[in-house]
Amino acid sequence: MGKDVIIACDFPSAAQTMEFLDKFQGRKPFVKIGMELFYAEGPEIVRQIKARGHKIFLDLKLHDIPNTVKKAMAVLSRLDVDICNLHAAGTAEMMRAALEGLTRPDGTRPLLIAVTQLTSTNQDALEHELLIHSPMEEVVMAYAGNAKRACLDGVVCSPLEAARVHEVCGQDFLTVTPGVRFADGDKGDQKRVMTPAQAKKVGSDYIVVGRPITAAEDPVAAYERCLAEFIG
Ligand code: C5P
Repeated sequence: MGKDVIIACDFPSAAQTMEFLDKFQGRKPFVKIGMELFYAEGPEIVRQIKARGHKIFLDLKLHDIPNTVKKAMAVLSRLDVDICNLHAAGTAEMMRAALEGLTRPDGTRPLLIAVTQLTSTNQDALEHELLIHSPMEEVVMAYAGNAKRACLDGVVCSPLEAARVHEVCGQDFLTVTPGVRFADGDKGDQKRVMTPAQAKKVGSDYIVVGRPITAAEDPVAAYERCLAEFIG
């Protein structure tokens, strides 16, 4: 899969999601389904969006004992999603088990990427709550390295970390980056942001864009603008 814009469909219901996707008519953007929508509507929402011809990043961030994650990943794999994810903090053993579970009998599987440290975790929480005493960037790069050694396909990271992740883990290791805003847009609650054009420059493979598209007056135009800046 090449570079692409993934729309974060952070809607509370299937009805609102379909109403949003209907606006795209013939176009089939890559879609991210997160916990809110998945827990509200269940696996059927994945089947419905897939049946409409969209690629799907199922963002459920699994983190449990290896055997449980392996079995859960086998279920997600049967849903025919394109990308799914887990927390690298679950250890390399958990990541390897996840890959096993995800691999279908014919040897194919969705891409598997890891969350390193959530961007909502700051250095203070890292040190005083998680008792991790290294600088955040070192922790992120170490976790990305663990994911790489466990044979995962990439990580979710800030676009500010994308170039360094590629240096450490190789150009083929995918960087999937949220925290994208238009230069003239509202940042909302995202703090460390980049424009789609800047994300392209630093080598992000996929940008995940939510509100700049979902809350735009003309979501299709906003999506086209993302594509033009990031790919065109
Ligand atoms: O609306 P916005 O563009 O901020 O949406 C970004 C999406 O990426 C949301 O679904 C958010 O949960 C997700 N995300 C993030 N930062 C992370 C991981 C995921 O913003 N570190």
